[in-house]
Amino acid sequence: MLSRRALDTDVPVMTQIRTLTAELTNPMSLAQGVVYWQPPQQALDKVKELVWDPAISSYGPDEGLPELRETLHKKLREENKLTKSVVMVTAGANQAFVNLVLTLCDHGDSVVMFQPYYFNAYTAFQMTGVTNIIVGPRHPQTLYPDADWLERTLSDSKPTPKVVTFVNPGNPSGTNVSEPLLKRISKICKDAGCWLIIDNTYEYFMYDGLKHCCVEGDHVVNIFSFSKTYGMMGWRLGYIAYSERLDGFAAELLKVQDNIPICASIISQRLAIHALEEGAGWVRERVKGLVKNREVVKEALEPLGKENVKGGEGAIYLWAKLPEEHGDDDFKVVRWLAHRHGVVVVPGCACGSPGHIRVSFGGLKEGEMRAAAERLRKGLEELVQRGMK
Ligand SMILES: Cc1ncc(COP(=O)(O)O)c(C=O)c1O
Repeated sequence: MLSRRALDTDVPVMTQIRTLTAELTNPMSLAQGVVYWQPPQQALDKVKELVWDPAISSYGPDEGLPELRETLHKKLREENKLTKSVVMVTAGANQAFVNLVLTLCDHGDSVVMFQPYYFNAYTAFQMTGVTNIIVGPRHPQTLYPDADWLERTLSDSKPTPKVVTFVNPGNPSGTNVSEPLLKRISKICKDAGCWLIIDNTYEYFMYDGLKHCCVEGDHVVNIFSFSKTYGMMGWRLGYIAYSERLDGFAAELLKVQDNIPICASIISQRLAIHALEEGAGWVRERVKGLVKNREVVKEALEPLGKENVKGGEGAIYLWAKLPEEHGDDDFKVVRWLAHRHGVVVVPGCACGSPGHIRVSFGGLKEGEMRAAAERLRKGLEELVQRGMK
């Protein structure tokens, strides 16, 4: 007897992609949202020396090591202009999101996302019983969340949805919500009495002079991650920034935290402290190197038609529309590309937008990226000219 909440949750797309990849000989992946770099060398060297320290093997404070939290408060003030926010350190941004859903939402509440959405945010709602997920549109050209629709929906839906959430810059859209739109969405949520959760996992992954911004408020919760920025995917570290003025919020959040990880891994927190000594400049230097990757992958998507390729403003994603006849079988296209051309991407159906694919340009160095992109280009040319024969 398994729970309805587990049974009714979508199968994670990345586990399906991993199974698919295991079936292949010599696959190249443009699927998972990862970066190819490791954490800063000096930070790794320092934690190497720490493993014998008994404090590393013990529990720490639920909300995170004081030294790390202090450094993060300074970072939030100086870089993100979040001057009234306090931090809880989590085992990654995904755990941060689940903590927030458990703290803010009840079974039966409604919530709002925008299509295409980040699959793990969707399934976090599903598996906690928040099954009334209203999926709103984005502007067809820019893929920015449709604020007019949001305003109408929040005022028309009774009871008012509990949470509005999106990723900025976007996964899978690869687009960046600018400050004016961010402020407008924040005001719409505030006026409606609704929480706004923004996932800033890709805060430093910005291109072409665009700037990432955050908004702050008693109704806003920001999520951050060390995974992509400092190449710390396997160290599982992220954090939640919420208003210091919120009465009772921290205490409730702490209950959830204490029941799931108790605290984030101590050695990961120590690594983060040293990674932050290198700071944003270290990350931005690496992100600059992804520009070439983005161009290479964009070219590979050209057989689909330039007008059908979006994203690349921020994060590590391009988002492409497949030819009309593949509107419902994007996973079949993904399997065909994998088996016939040895290149793996993510199907849009996992993000609520069938007929699309998400392509990540962060996980390979330029040389390998060119090889993977070549496979993708060949595959898409064949798809467009002859179909999946
Ligand atoms: C938008 C977004 N949030 C969260 C995560 C997961 O981050 P973490 O490794 O910090 O849990 C990812 C990873 O792909 C992501 O793209």
